[in-house]
Amino acid sequence: MKFNITVIPGDGIGPEVVNQAQKVLNAIGEVYDHTFLYEEVLMGACAIDKEGTPLPEKTLASCKKSDAILFGAIGDPKYDNDPSAKVRPEQGLLKLRKELALFCNVRPVKAYDQLIKNSPLKEEIIKGTDIEIYRELTGGIYFGIKQLSDDKQIAFDGCSYSVEEIERIAHLAFKAAQGRSKRLTLVDKANVLETSRLWRKTVSELSSQYPDVAVDTMFVDNAAMQLILNPKQFDVVLTGNLFGDILSDEASVIGGSIGLLASASVGNENALFEPIHGSYPQAKGKDIANPLASILSAAMLLRHLKLSKEAEAIEKAVEKSLELGITTEDIQSQSNFSTSKVGDFIVDYIHNQEDSNINFKNIHMGQSTII
Ligand code: IPM
Ligand code: MN
Repeated sequence: MKFNITVIPGDGIGPEVVNQAQKVLNAIGEVYDHTFLYEEVLMGACAIDKEGTPLPEKTLASCKKSDAILFGAIGDPKYDNDPSAKVRPEQGLLKLRKELALFCNVRPVKAYDQLIKNSPLKEEIIKGTDIEIYRELTGGIYFGIKQLSDDKQIAFDGCSYSVEEIERIAHLAFKAAQGRSKRLTLVDKANVLETSRLWRKTVSELSSQYPDVAVDTMFVDNAAMQLILNPKQFDVVLTGNLFGDILSDEASVIGGSIGLLASASVGNENALFEPIHGSYPQAKGKDIANPLASILSAAMLLRHLKLSKEAEAIEKAVEKSLELGITTEDIQSQSNFSTSKVGDFIVDYIHNQEDSNINFKNIHMGQSTII
């Protein structure tokens, strides 16, 4: 089949990791007989530099008409360190999410057996963890009214949620739970926030439509602690925009590296796939960043296009790379591999899924040159 993919490499390490994901998609195309047609467009600091805006019209138009969007990362220290900057790279991503109504951000968190030792958390706590965070992505405090008083002494960020906004993501989270361990935890701050009370009421009312899903609720402060104390208690976590942002970074510690966490941002018409790590400017251009989150985002993209067998091939290749230690320095500081070498391994594995581990290990350790 033929698919149109909009590619947004973005800033920092974005281009390097997205490049690997594209290599992997091309390998999938060759092996499973699909064509991926890419249109590469700008967003973020690079778009501000070239076009004066973080989200050029052309980027938005390309995203609207494509089958899926593959995105790298956004942000640049020159804006982070300038609180008075009027235009910021992140505005591009936020506007894109809003314009495409990508209201549901799915962030899977898994403890890979091969990486248990990489996490600072104890093995018995994290082994077997398998969580999916459903983070609302186009509402809440991220998109509320923002104000700064004339004398610049008072700042204001408003937070609002409508029943409709809560319902549409809650339905997706309930359906996901039905296909998993049938547990859904709503994380909020309903002891303090009016919006959280509306989440609780709405989710509780919806739950009668999903009688097979066990729903519980948890305050976000407690959830932050429970994620570290006993992550296995969670299956699907449903939460608002800001809480989801924070909890998903926290949860990445369970996986051993934030360089492994992929995400899908879906709406009714479009879908965007991106690693949850940021632009990691210190590593830009050094070929050291972990490409696996971007590659796993490509797997999520394929699943969204209903290519599950193809998605599984990528996931299997990623697990194999972890098993054989063909990984970047964030995962193993000694005998590490470059960003592009890890990408090469995944590509080779997809082409030669039947071959023995030994063969792969030798080839990618530089002990052999032919496949
Ligand atoms: C994320 C990022 C973004 C967010 C930033 C870059 C605006 O941290 O996707 O988690 O806060 O949503
Ligand atoms: Mn974040």
